[in-house]
Amino acid sequence: MSDEMNQEQQLQPKRPGKREMSRRQFLSYTLGGTGAFMMSLPLIFNLRFAVDPLLQKGGGSEFVKVVEESKITSEPQVFKFDKEVIDGWYRSRPTFEAWISRDENGEIFALSPICKHLGCTVNWNSHSSYPNEYYCPCHGAHYTKDGKALAVSPLPLDEYEVKVENGYVYLGNVIPNTRV
Ligand code: FES
Repeated sequence: MSDEMNQEQQLQPKRPGKREMSRRQFLSYTLGGTGAFMMSLPLIFNLRFAVDPLLQKGGGSEFVKVVEESKITSEPQVFKFDKEVIDGWYRSRPTFEAWISRDENGEIFALSPICKHLGCTVNWNSHSSYPNEYYCPCHGAHYTKDGKALAVSPLPLDEYEVKVENGYVYLGNVIPNTRV
């Protein structure tokens, strides 16, 4: 009798214990986990693009070598330079302009040419009524050599951050005018 029972027990399929996993459970967990991972891939990639600009060290804020220091005089001159700009995830390399000159102490400073009235471009000494001033042709704003607004514009011209190193002038970000 006990031999018959032993044989019956051996023929019956072994049921998984509490801690054992059936083949169905194993497949279900594996396929479910893989599916969840695959579905989260777009989210992971998008998250990477979203935070990428934040991870870029000093993105868009580096100084750019513009001109030899020896070329800068007390008379403002305009210089062009390219600089990488990062706007969110979009990178570009537009050309900028700066009016660079020395003040009465010989210190080099640089002004943005963007008129603070409505954004046209100013020029130095370009209007006979406003000698030795920046003049905007759009609505007649004019500014002193330091960028102080004399008419039309409510604000002075912006400045560039300036650094002089090894005989070269480097320009950084545009900042509000600190001279007037
Ligand atoms: S934009 Fe320069 S005066 Fe209006």
